[in-house]
Parts: sequence; C-alpha cells; structure tokens
Amino acid sequence: MTTQQCGIEADSIQLSIELGQRSYPITICNKTFDTRVLAHVLQKRKALIVTNETVAPLYLEQLTSALPSMDYSVCVLPDGEQYKNVQYWQMIIDQLAEQRINRSDVLIALGGGVVCDMTGFAAASWMRGVDVIQVPTTLLAQVDASVGGKTGINHAAGKNLIGAFHQPKAVIINTSTIDTLPSREFAAGMAESIKYGFINQPAFIEWIRQKQNLLASKDPNALTQMIAQCCQFKAEVVAADEKEQGMRALLNLGHTFGHAIETISGYNKYLHGEAVAIGMVMAAALSEHLKLAQVGLLEQMESILQAFDLPVRIPSEYQPSELVKLMRLDKKVVDRKHRLILMRGVGQAEIVEDVDETAIVEAIEKCVE
Ligand code: NAD
Ligand code: GLY
Repeated sequence: MTTQQCGIEADSIQLSIELGQRSYPITICNKTFDTRVLAHVLQKRKALIVTNETVAPLYLEQLTSALPSMDYSVCVLPDGEQYKNVQYWQMIIDQLAEQRINRSDVLIALGGGVVCDMTGFAAASWMRGVDVIQVPTTLLAQVDASVGGKTGINHAAGKNLIGAFHQPKAVIINTSTIDTLPSREFAAGMAESIKYGFINQPAFIEWIRQKQNLLASKDPNALTQMIAQCCQFKAEVVAADEKEQGMRALLNLGHTFGHAIETISGYNKYLHGEAVAIGMVMAAALSEHLKLAQVGLLEQMESILQAFDLPVRIPSEYQPSELVKLMRLDKKVVDRKHRLILMRGVGQAEIVEDVDETAIVEAIEKCVE
C-alpha cells in the first residue's frame, strides 16, 4: 500500500491496493469525481453506469460530465437493501445484454454499498467477468464496501450469501457526496470506520475521539483524512489476504451478529452499519464474558458508538437464541462451529474458533434493551 499526495489536484489523495497485476488506484477528492486516473482505462470503451433512484438525480450528471467522452447507458435500480437480490441483479444483467456490453467494456457503480455490491457482482458474473469501477457515495461505501472486491447479493436465508470476489479497476471517491447523506446513513458509515480502530488501530480510536466534533459536523478535511485512513487500513488487509483465508476475516468484526440482526429484522429496521454497531457491542460483551478482554472494553465500545448516535442494543422482541440460530448460517462457520471475531482489547481483534453457543446467548442477553 502506498499513500501519497499525488498531485493530480491539491485536494486529491491517491492510494493503491497492491494485488500484483490486479492492483488498482483509489482516488479521494473532497470536491469532484476526480476521474483523471481513468482516462486510460476508459478509452474507447462503452460503459453501463448502475445507480439508484436516489443517487441518480444527485450525482449522475456530475459523474458523467467528469468522464472522458464515451458511449454510456444507465441502469437505475430502486433504492434499498431489500432490492439487493437476484431479481434486481437480473435487471442489471438484462441491461448488459440489451446494451451488448462485452469484456472490453466496463460497469460503473455510482451509489452506496448496495449499488457497489450488486454492480460488482453483475460485473463478476457477466461473461465470466467484466471490468468494474466503483464510485461510492455513502460514507460506509467509501470506507469499506467499494474497496477490496467483495461483491454480492442477499438470499432469503441470509445476507450476502450469493457473491464473488471481483476486484474493481479503480475506486473514485468524492467525499463531498457525504453532504447530502442523511444523518443516520452518516452514522452507519462511522460504525464501519470505528471498526478499524477496534480491529488493529487503537490510535485511530483516539484520533476519532479527538476529531469527534469535526467529524460529526462533516468537516471536509477531517472526513477526507478519515476516509483515506480507513481505505489504507483496508488495503493493507486485502493485499495480505485477498480471499479471506485468514486475517481478512477480522474486517468482519461485529458482522456475524450484525447480519443476524439484519436478517431477523427483515432488512428494513436497521441500516447495515447500525446492525454492525450493535454487533460490535455484542462482540465486546462476549469478549468480556469469556474473559478474553478486561472489563471496560464494552463501555469503550458503547461510548464511542453512542457519540455518533449509533444504536447499541436490540429490542426485547428479538430472542438471543433466535439470533444465534441465524448466526449458524454465517460464512465463517466451520464444521457447524461458531467462529467469531472477538477482542482482547481495543485494537486487538482475533479469530476465536468453536465459541460456545450458551456463552454467545448470555452475551447477547446483556445487549437487550
Ligand atoms: P445503501 O447503499 O443502501 O445507501 C444508503 C442510502 O443512502 C440509500 O438510500 C442510498 O440511496 C442513499 N445514498 C447514497 N449516496 C447518497 C448521497 N450521497 N446522498 C444522499 N443519499 C445517498 O447503504 P450503504 O450503507 O452504503 O451500504 C450497505 C451495503 O453495503 C450493505 O448491503 C452491505 O452488505 C454492503 N457492504 C459491503 C461491503 C463489501 O466489502 N463489499 C462492506 C460493507 C458493507
Ligand atoms: N467488509 C469486509 C471485507 O471487505 O472483508
């Protein structure tokens, strides 16, 4: 991973994901979609831009006017996690067929994590793989979903159960898109940002605390710095373990609990980042319960999440035992044994094998309203 002020524009930061021949740039700019790194990639190609009904009126024109002159069409999805399924994946595929997009063309995802994941998966599947460029417009997608090549859709049996690893050709981040993001969505992105600190970056938690007011008021410089930091943390992990054979699983801190919370609530009560926030609290509660971490971790986790108005409890109507049943479907489960990301302390996450179900239920019970 290399980080440098690249000089494309004073406000642009250029990072890269180092994956040999599949390495790609991440361009972060706090004013525009800085697409200049794409001039070469997009030359003479046809593009399908996939976006949704909320993002298109806000940013489609700004993006297309920043693209080099090219032939493109647009696929506008309905907005929502409930549409991240095979039916709407098919809608993208149908448009790829209609537009006769082939392997020398490119898909461009303009939107939040839902659009990024679905477009990435359509790109991975169409003609066994066409290029995709990620243009994330939510904080969550800028710090996490657009980077690292995980793509996919949900199935009724669980979240992201259908998918593929398919790295993008580039990630173009315009942090000013955060200005129009609703505050709950902003907080959801903060949850995924805070996650990196609890995994292996304790100093980053301190930095977020110090910048709390600037971040909460969406100060452009603080936000750009935070996003660049998160992309860098993620890039290091992805470069070391692209296909999640080992340490990349740490990026799922809070997610096994969180996915179960999203599934039990029908994908429409909690935002993904909110479910992850509660999931990280559950992971902290379980880490203390198993005496892996000292008492105090749970309180530190709750206090920083609450500082950004994130939820830290589930309502009593959700039975902890039902959540644990859903957790058995997690992709990290090995030989039907729970494999969870827990913490020895702030910035000391680790994979814990064969976690006892009774202990998980007891820890979740501490996180009920
Ligand atoms: P989202 O894509 O649903 O976007 C949230 C909402 O914000 C939507 O209503 C969207 O239309 C709207 N929106 C997007 N940009 C906007 C803007 N600039 N201004 C105003 N509104 C805007 O949700 P999300 O939180 O971005 O992403 C969550 C999804 O990402 C989940 O499906 C999750 O599984 C996935 N995810 C994937 C990865 C990965 O590595 N692939 C990582 C984390 C999350
Ligand atoms: N969001 C987890 C990962 O990309 O691995």
